[in-house]
Amino acid sequence: SNFNVGDGRPSLLPFRGIYVMQGIFKEETLMELEHFDVLHDDVFIISYPKSGTNWMQVLMRLVYAEGDHKCLEGVASWEKTPWLELQKSKVLQLSRPRIITSHFPHRLAPHALQEGSAKVIYVARNPKDIIVSLYHFCKNALFMEMPKDFQSFLEVFIDGKVLMGSWFEHIQGWMECKHPQLLYVMYEDMTKDLPAVVRRMCTFLGKTLTEVQIESVVKHSSFTAMKNNPMTNFSKAEKLFEDNIKFFRKGKVGDWKNHFTVAQSEWFDAVYQERTVGLGLDFTWDL
Ligand code: A3P
Repeated sequence: SNFNVGDGRPSLLPFRGIYVMQGIFKEETLMELEHFDVLHDDVFIISYPKSGTNWMQVLMRLVYAEGDHKCLEGVASWEKTPWLELQKSKVLQLSRPRIITSHFPHRLAPHALQEGSAKVIYVARNPKDIIVSLYHFCKNALFMEMPKDFQSFLEVFIDGKVLMGSWFEHIQGWMECKHPQLLYVMYEDMTKDLPAVVRRMCTFLGKTLTEVQIESVVKHSSFTAMKNNPMTNFSKAEKLFEDNIKFFRKGKVGDWKNHFTVAQSEWFDAVYQERTVGLGLDFTWDL
C-alpha cells in the first residue's frame, strides 16, 4: 500500500470505478443517484474535488441574493448548496430553484443531467494545483487516508486511486458532454477576473445584477472573506479536519511549482498530453 497504516485514518472505498470516503458515503444512496429526479429549474455545481467547489457554492448564493451578503449569515454554506451524494435528504428539503453540488463523474451522475434537463456549472482547475491542494487536504482531513509523501501521492493520483477516481476521466466525461445547459468555469479565470466570471454566470442563469451588486458578490466571496466567515469556513462544522480552517490553504494559481520537482512535472505533463488529447483544454498553469 502507498499509505501509512495504523494512523487511525479510514481507507477509501471503491465504488464503480471511483473511490469514496468510507463510513461517510452510503452505497444505497450512490446507486440511486443515476435516477435522481432532476427538476428543470435545478442548478448543479459539478467539479472534481479541490477545483474551487466551495468558492462556487458561495458565488452562486451571492448571485441569487443579488449580492446581499446577509444570505451567508445564519446557515452554513454546505447546508444551502448540499452535495447530492452526501446530503440527499437536505437536497430534497431545498426550496426552488435548488442549487445542488456534486463531485460525481459524468458516467455516474443523474441521467437527466447527461441529457441536459437542468443547468450545470462545471468548475475546472489545472490538475497540478489540484494535486497539491488534494495532497494537503488528505493530510488535514481526518476522514481521508494519510498520504505517505508527495511522490507516492502523485502516483496514486495519476492511477486514479483517489477520492472520486481519475481526474482525467472526470474532465473528459464532462468536457465531452457540451450542451447549452452546461457552463464551464475555470478556477484560474475566477482568480484572474472574478467580475467577468460572475457576469458570465448571470447571463447563463438569467440573472440581471447591477455592477454594484456584482462588486458585492466579488467582495464577499474573496478568499479572506470566506476564510473569516464562520458560515463558510467550517469552524462551526463538526471536527472534520485536524484544523478545519486550514481548508482555506492558499487559494493561488501555480502553487504546484513549490511541490513538483522538474522530473515530476515532466512526467505529469507527458501523462496529461496523452490523456487529454482532443478535449480542447487550455489551463492557466501559473499567474
Ligand atoms: P488550495 O488548497 O490550493 O488553497 P474545493 O472547494 O473544490 O475543495 O477547493 C478547495 C480549494 O479552493 C483550496 O485550494 C481552497 O483554498 C480554494 N478556495 C476556497 N475558497 C476560495 C476563494 N474564495 N478564493 C480562492 N480560492 C479559494
